[in-house]
Amino acid sequence: MEEKSILITGCSSGIGLCVAEGLLKRGYRVFATARKNEDVEALLNKGMESFQLDLDDSASIRGAVHEVLNKTEGKLFALFNNGGFGQPGAVEDLRRDVLREQFETNVFGYLELTNQILPTMRKQGYGRIIQNSSILGFISLPFRGAYTASKHALEGLSDTLRMELEGTNIFVSIIEPGPIEAKFRKNAYEKYKENINAKPSHFCKRYEAMEERLTKETAPLPFTLPATAVLEKVLRALESSKPKARYYVTTPTYIFACLKRLLPGFLLEKILITAGTRG
Ligand SMILES: NC(=O)c1ccc[n+]([C@@H]2O[C@H](COP(=O)([O-])OP(=O)(O)OC[C@H]3O[C@@H](n4cnc5c(N)ncnc54)[C@H](OP(=O)(O)O)[C@@H]3O)[C@@H](O)[C@H]2O)c1
Repeated sequence: MEEKSILITGCSSGIGLCVAEGLLKRGYRVFATARKNEDVEALLNKGMESFQLDLDDSASIRGAVHEVLNKTEGKLFALFNNGGFGQPGAVEDLRRDVLREQFETNVFGYLELTNQILPTMRKQGYGRIIQNSSILGFISLPFRGAYTASKHALEGLSDTLRMELEGTNIFVSIIEPGPIEAKFRKNAYEKYKENINAKPSHFCKRYEAMEERLTKETAPLPFTLPATAVLEKVLRALESSKPKARYYVTTPTYIFACLKRLLPGFLLEKILITAGTRG
């Protein structure tokens, strides 16, 4: 295979780490980034090229783009926008700054990084942009408003970008995973504790039940897949001559995509309300 380079965000754990390792094995030149120095060290020790990239920090994004393009003589085959987190909590309990934080990472960071890579892809005349969205990029769940809004926004921007790149040989694909083994839920719980004031909330009792479940439950959610399931779809987005706009991962994603097409809205919502009490 000719040298194919890829820049990946959020490689300290979960999907980013798994995809970085898998692509390295497959012969890609992998620039696996993380926001903490100790994670960058760990990635270097695994034989990857690595440096710091924090999606919340424009200077860090600029620095990372400069670093990667320096190493590749100004070329980059692909970008996997992956780093992110989920902020739980009812919509009425979300402060403005909390929603902004969610968007800073999951939307604005992706946009800024993509926009800094695009001139390179346009100049070289090819490229792949792969966005790690979620099943919550096309359906909504109660108590996941911030995360759902961020992934819907990401999908809107990505679909628009795909149309604007028509005929350029630069492809935009969206990956839509359901539950995947990662630190995602643990990190979401930390964000809940940090940012949601549960006691005075109308949903105080629900939060208590959720805390109880999240602190005691060790079993993964039903249908959870290992992160290699995402790697498989990333490989398709990278290696297909005509990458698809969307790649579904996990059974719930396929089921809800189908239900969304088939069911009237009120019926779908009843199912989502029940589903939203879990997880
Ligand atoms: N796991 C799932 O069930 C699931 C399902 C659908 C979609 N996803 C999506 O998959 C992506 C990866 O998450 P994961 O499941 O692998 O969870 P994870 O194990 O929690 O990994 C999240 C990664 O994102 C990084 N990150 C967080 N904020 C960042 C920032 N400001 N700048 C750069 N990196 C940042 C984290 O770095 P730190 O270690 O420094 O925090 C970590 O490397 C996310 O976009 C998530 O929305 C996950």
